[in-house]
Amino acid sequence: MLSHKVSKIILLAFSLGLILEFSTKMYSNYIKSRIILDVLDLDLQEFYAYIEEYGKNYNQQEFQVRFKNFKDNSAYIRLFNLQDHTWKLGVNFLADLSYEEYKTTYLPHKFQKSKTQQNEPQNLSQQPYPPTMDWRTKGAVTPVKNQQACGGCYAFSAVSSIESAWFIAGHPLTSFSEQCIIDCSSAYGNDHCYGGLVDQAFDYVKAKGLPTEATYPYLSANEKCNHTLADQVAVKITGYVDVQANSSTALLTAVAQQPVSVGVEADQLSWSFYKSGVITRDCGIYIDHAVVVDGYDTTQNPPYYIVRNSWGPKWGMAGYVLIEIKDGPGMCGIQQLPSYPYF
Ligand SMILES: *[C@@H]1O[C@H](CO)[C@@H](O)[C@H](O)[C@H]1NC(C)=O
Ligand SMILES: *[C@@H]1O[C@H](CO)[C@@H](O)[C@H](O)[C@H]1NC(C)=O
Ligand SMILES: *[C@@H]1O[C@H](CO)[C@@H](O)[C@H](O)[C@H]1NC(C)=O
Repeated sequence: MLSHKVSKIILLAFSLGLILEFSTKMYSNYIKSRIILDVLDLDLQEFYAYIEEYGKNYNQQEFQVRFKNFKDNSAYIRLFNLQDHTWKLGVNFLADLSYEEYKTTYLPHKFQKSKTQQNEPQNLSQQPYPPTMDWRTKGAVTPVKNQQACGGCYAFSAVSSIESAWFIAGHPLTSFSEQCIIDCSSAYGNDHCYGGLVDQAFDYVKAKGLPTEATYPYLSANEKCNHTLADQVAVKITGYVDVQANSSTALLTAVAQQPVSVGVEADQLSWSFYKSGVITRDCGIYIDHAVVVDGYDTTQNPPYYIVRNSWGPKWGMAGYVLIEIKDGPGMCGIQQLPSYPYF
């Protein structure tokens, strides 16, 4: 009897031991799989790849904040791309910024033009514009530049349309200086990296002329005007034309002649994370950014403008964005403030 009881207890202890061992194994397997799950945490893996690709450098404190922004932005991008839109979004250098940081760093001023009158009469061709145009294929456009964390879009837009006009006028394609305009045009109403207007940049270049990019290189910073460099003038414009506002015909006719500086609203995530396709809605019309229309295609559905940004070649489609052509102020307000320089 006793021995039977003892053997029963031993058996019980043995089984308990087995169960315990088994559950310990289960538990450690569970922990292992948790670790594997953490290692495979897609967001974190993507974030490390992102840090690598964009050469980001955070201290420990900043890492958590940047990672959170990155996750929020990635989630927005994934959700947007699951929906049925005519354009796609993608992670880019802006993905570790909060929305507020993005706006204050890249779009510092809501700049509305104060003057309502046409600057100078426009003598545009009476010919109908051709159905497609792309000044990039004609060698009239310098490689996309990068304003970085300086709200100097007005200088980039003005300089790009001057570079193209200079080439179309028969000169070799030359890169001119944005930093000179950012540093030296405050007497014309611009405010360094904090914002300005394309036409005020034109006013400066009309009055003072502009050195090359090589002479007065870009620093992405608020600097004092370096007059020694600013005086080494390589180009001067005679004037500029404000294209009739709110007319796709007027803008297309102007772009058929040369690239045209325009204002757009760029403060929506559907713009900042633009990757490909044609923007056809929801970008607003309150201008806070300056870019350049380098071409268009009216044969496509939807028809679109080919728009050069100044956020480097990794943004959008090799630095470009396609924006639907429609009447009135235009998609993203693109037809409200068009202007181009002449010699
Ligand atoms: C524009 O056209 C008008 C009338 O045809 C002419 O008088 C004027 O000189 C032209 N302006 C320019 C800048 O070519
Ligand atoms: C202007 O730039 C030149 C060349 O980089 C430099 O030698 C000079 O010190 C600068 N002048 C001022 C006032 O910063
Ligand atoms: C263009 O359209 C916008 C939006 O409707 C309007 O606010 C603006 O005054 C128009 N511009 C001109 C010059 O008519």
